[in-house]
Amino acid sequence: IQSTIMLNNGTVIPQVGLGVFQTPDGDTTVNAVQTALENGYRHIDTAMIYHNEASVGEGIRRAGVPRSDFFLTTKLWNDDIRARRGKDAFQESLDRLGVDYVDLYLIHWPADGWQQAWDDLQEIYASGRAKAIGVSNFQKHHIDELLTHSDVVPAVDQVESSPQFTNQELIGQLRAKGIHTEAWSPLGGTGGNLLSNPVLAGIGAKYGRSAAQVVIRWHIQRGIVVLPKSTHAERIKQNFEVFDFNLSVDDMTAISAINTGKRNGADPDNFNF
Ligand code: A2P
Repeated sequence: IQSTIMLNNGTVIPQVGLGVFQTPDGDTTVNAVQTALENGYRHIDTAMIYHNEASVGEGIRRAGVPRSDFFLTTKLWNDDIRARRGKDAFQESLDRLGVDYVDLYLIHWPADGWQQAWDDLQEIYASGRAKAIGVSNFQKHHIDELLTHSDVVPAVDQVESSPQFTNQELIGQLRAKGIHTEAWSPLGGTGGNLLSNPVLAGIGAKYGRSAAQVVIRWHIQRGIVVLPKSTHAERIKQNFEVFDFNLSVDDMTAISAINTGKRNGADPDNFNF
């Protein structure tokens, strides 16, 4: 049985979702989404800038899962934040996805103008077309600034987190404010070598699990939402077979000790896109 988390506005989110960053538009995304939903996933995380929202929608329709039975997230891209196009960009995302609401809408990065974008998201939330709103790649200082302007506390902050870059301090700061963390690049991302780390293989051998399953389980037991990406059906299935074993405290500690403190992706205080 998959685990869920209740967000700060009462919305319930399945803890494991399929990530589709760098999943090519067309059949690859359609098949990945359909495979995920047919194998128990009830949570898909996309973004305008992934350029695959229409294919995500097609995969959802092919799987035939009723809209109320799965959780769908998309994100407002930086160009639309800077152009103050929050509300139009949101409607465009709904149209591409072919749905009349999303469960979660996020500001993708703290691009110039994010404060106004948060006002747009609050209006969208009030309209009922997003069941929850939040942010992504916000550091503590961004959250502090946001909370001085807004009564709505973001439901989530989606940030980079993996055994290589645990981001644990920020996660604790978010938790103290009632903001749930979602992990992107939870497996160390594309082209990373995290999954070949012998510590993970050793732990996996004890439980009869792959390194990827061990890492996903580690995220679950940390209490955060985890968004593994794969374009391979077998891996998509495998990444969801993580609800029937428990890592010991010592194993959790050993995985956390892989942390190098170095990001794999962009720095939210210094990005140029
Ligand atoms: P692929 O899509 O070719 O399967 P992250 O979720 O951290 O962004 O990392 C995803 C990376 O890990 C992708 O390169 C993905 O490749 C790979 N990956 C995802 N699931 C597994 C798995 N179960 N075993 C090995 N590699 C995986």
